[in-house]
Amino acid sequence: MQLDDLASSESIEQEAWTALEKSILYYKGRPVGTIAAYDATVEALNYDQCFVRDFVSSALIFLMKGRTDIVRNFLEETLKLQPKERQLDAYKPGRGLMPASFKVVCDDGEEEYLEADFGEHAIARVTPVDSCLWWVILLRAYVVATKDFSLAYQPQFQHGIRLIMELCLATRFDMYPTILVPDGACMIDRRMGIYGHPLEIQALFFAALRAARELLICQGNEDIVTAIDNRLPLLRTHIRQYYWMDLHRLNKIYRFKSEEYGKAAANPFNIYADSLPYYELDKWLPRKGGFLVGNVGPSQLDTRFFSLGNLVAVVSDLTSEEQSQAIMNLIEERWDDLVGDMPMKLCFPALENDEYRIVTGCDPKNRPWSYHNGGSWPVLLWLLSAAAVKTNRIELGHKAVEIAEARLHLDEWPEYYDGKKGRLMGKQARKYQTWTIAGFLLAKELLQNPTFLPLVTFAPFSVEPASRACEFELVQVDTVYLS
Ligand code: GLC
Repeated sequence: MQLDDLASSESIEQEAWTALEKSILYYKGRPVGTIAAYDATVEALNYDQCFVRDFVSSALIFLMKGRTDIVRNFLEETLKLQPKERQLDAYKPGRGLMPASFKVVCDDGEEEYLEADFGEHAIARVTPVDSCLWWVILLRAYVVATKDFSLAYQPQFQHGIRLIMELCLATRFDMYPTILVPDGACMIDRRMGIYGHPLEIQALFFAALRAARELLICQGNEDIVTAIDNRLPLLRTHIRQYYWMDLHRLNKIYRFKSEEYGKAAANPFNIYADSLPYYELDKWLPRKGGFLVGNVGPSQLDTRFFSLGNLVAVVSDLTSEEQSQAIMNLIEERWDDLVGDMPMKLCFPALENDEYRIVTGCDPKNRPWSYHNGGSWPVLLWLLSAAAVKTNRIELGHKAVEIAEARLHLDEWPEYYDGKKGRLMGKQARKYQTWTIAGFLLAKELLQNPTFLPLVTFAPFSVEPASRACEFELVQVDTVYLS
């Protein structure tokens, strides 16, 4: 690399930091989060609010830089927004839920207060199922970074985690190890045909279960700890088995029998091979590559590749070592499709024609190869980098950062890109989108300092029988990277 390049790389980082600072949201004089975008040229809608999922990227880079106060404030304030009472009113958020976003309100001369949006104001009234999962994951990252167990062990935090776990583990209709959610319940917060058991939610659920398992004090929580210990291996096996797609699996599905009743069914979800685009997959899947499909349910197998779910699965060890390597092989071999000129695609391929019309409800923002429907989201750069570090494929992370660095600051940090190769700045993309900026800084930091990876990864998976694990009052979090 030339000296000039180094200098410009530094100045780009500096520019990103200045923009990130500008996005910080203050409440009663304390920093409590970052707003979604700082773009004065378009109507703010709710982009002037702090989104829980968006703040995770900012929070992680703040933690790495020792700016732990803002993360702690965020965790404390959002915990207060979580409903604690059992709810029977249809228009009130359920107990344990975390908001999609919140804003600081100040009525004339009155004291400031926080107003949360649980989806009741959001476009299409979507439920933010992922917020509570990201919240537990972030709390655990805070504990790893600061070694400050006392925050998570405070009774109100223990109660908050417990309520989230109850929401995910107890009240449900079906009997899968995965969780059942409506459409648009995560980063893809518009209708995109991801209702049911979408991968993104399941991968976050797995990571949140692992985080909660480390943070919950057993005493008083024995039932939840037992439930987590029971659920973790079942969820992991279910995903590794039924969501996995590679040539071997495609062959199996191609020859599946259907209409099998009872326990011995080889095709328990009654997937009809004709519902799969198997000729396309047969061409697209590299011999040594594979991925987790987007959704599995009754006669449903959504073979779209969703980046967030796959990358969180790699980082949290939801996938086996072999599967993680196969996912990275796929990304490498299908770089043009999945990374292209802007890392990286939210999902691939896009829904087109009738499928687009029926599945998205003709959503103009989600036209084929735009926004959630095959658009490219720079925030995913940090997860790609984390997965690259985790699998010792760090060169893939460097390559992606190099591509992004060349454009992001020139384009003023857009929210997303459109087009098959991600060459068009998103039609309605905000500029100075905070998680684009934070995701870029985070990716660079993770690649430069892989010792930060344990903020989002876990120690090797071992599930102790719950009764034994509870003999120890406190379950220690893996803090090796700081020693
Ligand atoms: C869009 C995205 C969502 C994000 C929000 C704020 O609605 O789909 O994932 O949280 O913008 O950036």
